[in-house]
Amino acid sequence: MSNTKIAATREKPAGDKVTVPRLREMKTRGEKIVMLTAYDAGFAAQCELGGVDSVLVGDSLGMVVQGRASTLPVTLDEMVYHSAAVARGTHTALLIADLPFMTFRDADTALRSSARLLAEGGAAMVKLEGADYVLDVIRALDRHQIPVCAHLGLTPQSVHKLGGYHVQGKGKSAAERLLADARAVEQAGAALLVLECVPAALARQITAQLQIPTIGIGAGADCDGQVLVIYDMLGITPGKRPRFSRDFLAGQGSVADAIRAYAKAVRSGAFPAAEHSF
Ligand code: KIV
Repeated sequence: MSNTKIAATREKPAGDKVTVPRLREMKTRGEKIVMLTAYDAGFAAQCELGGVDSVLVGDSLGMVVQGRASTLPVTLDEMVYHSAAVARGTHTALLIADLPFMTFRDADTALRSSARLLAEGGAAMVKLEGADYVLDVIRALDRHQIPVCAHLGLTPQSVHKLGGYHVQGKGKSAAERLLADARAVEQAGAALLVLECVPAALARQITAQLQIPTIGIGAGADCDGQVLVIYDMLGITPGKRPRFSRDFLAGQGSVADAIRAYAKAVRSGAFPAAEHSF
């Protein structure tokens, strides 16, 4: 077995705190980054037991916890509340919290919002959607020592502009724009990039060209890590499961076992398979 294969299949060492610089080291070593969303202390504790590297308090909570039709109504107060709850259940995983709609519309607003997520919510990093004007925001956050995770591809806060929840970056010019945006967010100071619902070949190209790690959701197996919405991968979300997800609770005895199975599948490269990709 080659060294790369050993690195890729290794479990997260118990008690080892995951930091922002550690994510970059994991990319360099070819170790897949395992991320899941969580919205409360109980599920955060299960994520810890399951050995995930990072927990994302996503604004997806607006849909899966609050039952809303989109993430747009989620407020900063709600994100701070859920982030603080997750922080109480998280000990070693890196805690990332989403900046909700309009809370990063300019650099000053983004600094105030992010300060709350870090100081009151216990997050170590904030995630924000988009490029364009967002590049100035990323620069300001980075200058103020706030680690940033960018989010490109299907950006749910732009659902009305996009006309629905569709795969992004299809076709030559859309792919070139997405690649340019990925380079731009890295250049602006982002330390991590989530790619949501983009063709696997494009995600592979972006991942190869960036120094920062990429985390895919519906973006194929060649990203540096994977994230899923925990309600989707436990089969709790009502309705049809998204194509890019899988029910990891099926055949397992507990939530922690389901998360362990997900972590193992990501680290070994078994998830996502072609059927979960575009
Ligand atoms: O809000 C969220 O949970 C997210 C993930 C789907 C990446 O942004």
